[in-house]
Amino acid sequence: MRVTSAPSLPSPRHPDPADAPLLRWGILAPGWIASNFARAVHTHTGQRVIAVGSRTASRAEEFAARFEIPRAHEGYEAVLADPEVDVVYVASPHSEHREQALAAIAAGKHVLVEKAFTRNAAEAREVIEAGRAAGVFVMEAMWSRYLPHTDVLRQLLDDGALGDVHRVEADFGSRAEVEPTHRLLDPALAGGVLLDLGVYPLSFASFVARHAGAGPLPTGAGLQVAGELAPTGVDAQVSLQIAVGHLHAALFTTMFAETPQTATVSGSLARVALGHKFFIPGPLTLTRGGDSVTWDENRIFDLDGLAFQAAALARFVAEGRTESPLQPLAETLEILEVADAVRAALGVRYPGE
Ligand SMILES: NC(=O)c1ccc[n+]([C@@H]2O[C@H](COP(=O)([O-])OP(=O)(O)OC[C@H]3O[C@@H](n4cnc5c(N)ncnc54)[C@H](OP(=O)(O)O)[C@@H]3O)[C@@H](O)[C@H]2O)c1
Repeated sequence: MRVTSAPSLPSPRHPDPADAPLLRWGILAPGWIASNFARAVHTHTGQRVIAVGSRTASRAEEFAARFEIPRAHEGYEAVLADPEVDVVYVASPHSEHREQALAAIAAGKHVLVEKAFTRNAAEAREVIEAGRAAGVFVMEAMWSRYLPHTDVLRQLLDDGALGDVHRVEADFGSRAEVEPTHRLLDPALAGGVLLDLGVYPLSFASFVARHAGAGPLPTGAGLQVAGELAPTGVDAQVSLQIAVGHLHAALFTTMFAETPQTATVSGSLARVALGHKFFIPGPLTLTRGGDSVTWDENRIFDLDGLAFQAAALARFVAEGRTESPLQPLAETLEILEVADAVRAALGVRYPGE
């Protein structure tokens, strides 16, 4: 007699972000994501942003007033020189990440760098090496890695609950209604959809490949690229077909259309589906045979989920780590090597590369 049992799901191993040890944060570049970050950490964690630096004094002051940040500075240097700042959050366009991360490291600060970590792998290597030499903590702000539903998937993969994993699909497309001067379209700011949105499907495929034991994503044989450029020369739409061992991935990103923004992982025993906006807090469904079970116990939603990565960073620093065990710097580097290969295939180069 064949005995089957309904599939079950592990619980996420996430302590409350509010319980993480306090770090005092300095923000460089108070733009859109920085405001979401400041709101999220002040609402859901004990982390405190104590300084903000902008290229424009009035912008720093407005941001500080909005999020009750005690110190507002014109320029970024004063944040780095502040002895009370433990960790610097780099929230500028991609083109600025290398220089600002290196400056933060040189000032002896831990650093959280927005995705994409740098413009390319060479810059990432520089930042990683500088961080290691200085003994400070360095992390890419790939916040999906720190969300509860991601940890459910991490456990399913690590436990082999899906069997041999053969297929990953992930997409993030969003219609960009922006001025032609927006950073997304500007090669000088390392624009393009791949580093902006495409890095999420890419990171997701890398995460699955690593946890499924398939190894790093390929940069040569095994990587097929199709794409379309914007009139400014940056990539506007990218499709990737990736084969790594027995794992095949189909990844898609575009700035022309709203897409489902979902992700699925299929193995020989079971499959997992992540819903719309798979990269923010959301539900996860495990299906085995004809039975499905869904995890949907989020208590922190949308961009407030940025609180999880800040709390994780604070815990890692308290544990004496210098990088995230949930996204090692070697993996951040590997993902940028794939992005470099994709841009090379499409003929996208940033000024000075
Ligand atoms: N985690 C996420 O969900 C998420 C979402 C969106 C974006 N991001 C990432 O966050 C970073 C920033 O994106 P954003 O959408 O927040 O951009 P944004 O609103 O344009 O803000 C970027 C800020 O960078 C500063 N800056 C420094 N040098 C600059 C330059 N040369 N040109 C333009 N601005 C410059 C500006 O602040 P001051 O002039 O005041 O100094 C500007 O406000 C990017 O890496 C992006 O990929 C992450």
